[in-house]
Amino acid sequence: MTANDSMQPTATYDSAFLRACRREPVPHTPVWFMRQAGRSLPEYRKVREGIPMLESCMRPELVTEITLQPVRRHNVDAAIYFSDIVVPLKAIGIGLDIKPGVGPVVDQPIRTRADLARLRDLTPEDVPYVTEAIGLLTRELGPTPLIGFAGAPFTLASYLVEGGPSRTFENAKAMMYGDPELWADLLDRLADITAAFLKVQIEAGASAVQLFDSWVGALAPADYRRSVMPFSSKVFDAVAGYGVPRIHFGVGTGELLKLMGEAGADVVGVDWRVPLDKAHRRVGPGKALQGNLDPTVLFTDKDTVEVRAREVLDAAAGLEGHVFNLGHGVPPNTDPDALTRLVEYVHAQTAR
Ligand code: CP3
Repeated sequence: MTANDSMQPTATYDSAFLRACRREPVPHTPVWFMRQAGRSLPEYRKVREGIPMLESCMRPELVTEITLQPVRRHNVDAAIYFSDIVVPLKAIGIGLDIKPGVGPVVDQPIRTRADLARLRDLTPEDVPYVTEAIGLLTRELGPTPLIGFAGAPFTLASYLVEGGPSRTFENAKAMMYGDPELWADLLDRLADITAAFLKVQIEAGASAVQLFDSWVGALAPADYRRSVMPFSSKVFDAVAGYGVPRIHFGVGTGELLKLMGEAGADVVGVDWRVPLDKAHRRVGPGKALQGNLDPTVLFTDKDTVEVRAREVLDAAAGLEGHVFNLGHGVPPNTDPDALTRLVEYVHAQTAR
């Protein structure tokens, strides 16, 4: 399927997930989970045995199998392409690895203007395994939509400048405050790489894309508007012409929701800190919302999960479009049966 075909009224186009993203009436509230493919599933741990994370992202058959696992098991309304936000950086030759239990670690952090030269443009030839895996996946998935994704410029910069995961982002934020020109050039490079990576996924058949700005909640609104938003907007603008829904997600973004709506996405992802009715007032009209059950609720009993899920649905009752999700990713030690039951519950509660 090409991007053009995906705009025709096919079963995929008409799926509950894509309809909700477009704020059209739905047969039931669609559900998927960030990090639905991953360590909570024993079948994932089995196929990943002995294969490093980044290597697994470059094997199309394995990517296809891992992406399909949560769809088979949980009956979610969308698949998310199995990869990682640092894959496009690795693909253009940045020395980095994903360390188990730690996250992405960069050999030589990007701190100076000379370092920028290491961030060259990404072409489809850099990621042939993505095109191949998405081709396999769209055939296997049938009408179930596939979500492509990428890291947003700020969140990618946070790993590149810090050299690894950080709580405070002190090097990245110091560059942003202290050398705004270098910062802007870095984010502009990352916006181009990210846009190119999303285009590869859409052209291969992804029917929606999510931009993960996971750590952007570390910023004050004025700094977000000045130093980050233009570059996230550049990414959304670059893929607007495909007509596939664009989702924008971050954690701790209560104070940023209005601006994140303005950045240009069609759907705004909300973490668990802001109820969806309130989030809707902040984001403003014309956007669907995605979220926002606290993932930690999954560690409680079935009744508590249902009470909390019902609260999310009640808060979403007046929205123009709602995609049910967690407020952040599935924790690795989640009981997968709790996820399966949650999908059933949301579908049953919202069947129209
Ligand atoms: O959602 C999905 O099911 C698709 C897969 C996916 C992964 N990473 C696979 C992965 C997605 C969407 C991501 C995005 C990602 N990667 C983000 C944004 C999403 C978020 O959670 O906010 C971020 C910040 C990263 C960077 C990253 N990669 C982290 C923080 C980690 C966890 C490190 C650890 O071991 O706890 C990774 C590694 C990673 N990416 C794993 C998976 C399944 C775990 C590694 C493994 O299974 O061996």
